[in-house]
Amino acid sequence: MTQQYFNFSAFPQQRPRRLRKDDFSRRLVREHQLTVDDLIYPCFVLEGKSQREKVTSMPGVERLSIDLLLQEAEIIHKLGIPMMALFPVIPLEQKSLDAAEAFNPDGLAQRAVRALKKAFPDLGVMTDVALDPFTTHGQDGLIDDNAYIINDETVEVLIKQAISHAEAGADVVAPSDMMDGRIGAIRNALENAGHIHTRIMAYSAKYASSFYGPFRDAVGSAGNLAGGNKFSYQMDPANSDEALHEVALDIQEGADMVMVKPGMPYLDVLYRVKQTFQKPTFVYQVSGEYAMLKAATLKGWLGEEVIMESLLAFKRAGADGILTYFAKDIAQKLQR
Ligand code: PBG
Repeated sequence: MTQQYFNFSAFPQQRPRRLRKDDFSRRLVREHQLTVDDLIYPCFVLEGKSQREKVTSMPGVERLSIDLLLQEAEIIHKLGIPMMALFPVIPLEQKSLDAAEAFNPDGLAQRAVRALKKAFPDLGVMTDVALDPFTTHGQDGLIDDNAYIINDETVEVLIKQAISHAEAGADVVAPSDMMDGRIGAIRNALENAGHIHTRIMAYSAKYASSFYGPFRDAVGSAGNLAGGNKFSYQMDPANSDEALHEVALDIQEGADMVMVKPGMPYLDVLYRVKQTFQKPTFVYQVSGEYAMLKAATLKGWLGEEVIMESLLAFKRAGADGILTYFAKDIAQKLQR
């Protein structure tokens, strides 16, 4: 009986290793590929001139003033990276309860967009639509007396912020705030203002993740976070059906592109979103993922190949593009 199934004297009937033997055949049968076209480069922007500050928890990442940002953009553009994503670092004295600095036409983000689009008209520029850099309490929206983040009042401010970005020339506005109804409200306002070409990349499935820690250090919204967490608007890491629901709403409301964030701990969500909707789907390899991989490679505990492996995983799961702090390094590697 057993012998029928296990004839140990025969050769294996299948030898999947045949195709893995040589580089040429490995290349021929390779299913997924990461190219420079998949990359979006997030950057932290500072006030001032010739200012450059290291982000302690993200070795290799710096906050740059606009003049230095332009130098960085030139490198990014030459490498062929399609788009940069901007995150302003707002001085304490410009933060307030009403987050009015968020829609200042001459605010840091708006000036950075104008400078970039003037110098590199065909480099895509994406902006973050959320109030956390601008509120004294570090939450993404306005709060009531109980420190609850109030939805509809926040959306009114997000609309003004998104319009000010579009007016400055942003190609893509990316609401990362997770308020209800904000994609529809922003789309409507953009259309009414004649900004029919402004693309919306919705942070649709954005989880209440501890992997954002280094980012909050980088933009200085961590120390003062009222309530200590964002559980009342960002998604519960225990849920995944809910992510499909959020994506469906954002698509219905007018998002051109949707996003899952963070990346590696949420590959299942990314896969399901792409399979379900077949929309342009992006993933954010967030600051904490960068910090982990960077720390381990700097220590020599992991080889640098883990970076490419982590990005390929996103392609396999169905990502059309990836926001990653490794974008510049990987684009340089891909050129070689
Ligand atoms: C702010 C925002 C965050 C990130 C992007 N936009 C932080 C947060 O929601 O607390 C995180 C990015 C990263 O960790 O790299 N709305």
